[in-house]
Amino acid sequence: MPAVAVSRRATLEDVEQLYLLIDDYARKGIMLPRSRKVLERLINDFVVTEVDGAVVGCGSLCKLGDELVEIRSLGIAEGYKGQGLGSMLVKQLVEEARVQGIPKVMALTYEVSFFLKNGFNVVEKEIFPEKVWTDCVNCSKQHACDEIAVLKILD
Ligand SMILES: CC(C)(COP(=O)(O)OP(=O)(O)OC[C@H]1O[C@@H](n2cnc3c(N)ncnc32)[C@H](O)[C@@H]1OP(=O)(O)O)[C@@H](O)C(=O)NCCC(=O)NCCS
Repeated sequence: MPAVAVSRRATLEDVEQLYLLIDDYARKGIMLPRSRKVLERLINDFVVTEVDGAVVGCGSLCKLGDELVEIRSLGIAEGYKGQGLGSMLVKQLVEEARVQGIPKVMALTYEVSFFLKNGFNVVEKEIFPEKVWTDCVNCSKQHACDEIAVLKILD
């Protein structure tokens, strides 16, 4: 991991960088797009990773009830992957869930081995409540979702 990497809560000043990072992955069909307006509204749910003062990664938590939170919009910019930054972000997001007293953290992802390395398990999508799927109406793959559900239960 680069010595100067930090992960911190996002602020409104990060909106443009977050928009560009997420938009890049959205164009590749890996993430759902987020407008600048939506990012402003959800900014308190986001954490970012900074390297040398530049935002190179992000992730957010979406509360799905008292017991469950979903990791969304998790991504590390090309050129910064494979250096432990994604794991650092996931750790911080899990810590945020813990602080909020939420015992279960889930994600829908193509990056299964990354989540396994970070202590998640693969689970059946059907175990989650309907609220999990509210975002899916905006997804072009909604009727052919091939993402895998992963879950971490905090101790
Ligand atoms: C998934 C992602 C966030 C991982 O971030 P990263 O900074 O590259 O991950 P790390 O460097 O922290 O990797 C941690 C471990 O997972 C492994 N890993 C990372 N990406 C992996 C992948 N795609 N497949 C398998 N293993 C992977 C690493 O080898 C590393 O293992 P190690 O600790 O034994 O060396 C990043 O690849 C990404 O932005 N992907 C595109 C967006 C995306 O799919 N996001 C997930 C949406 S839920």
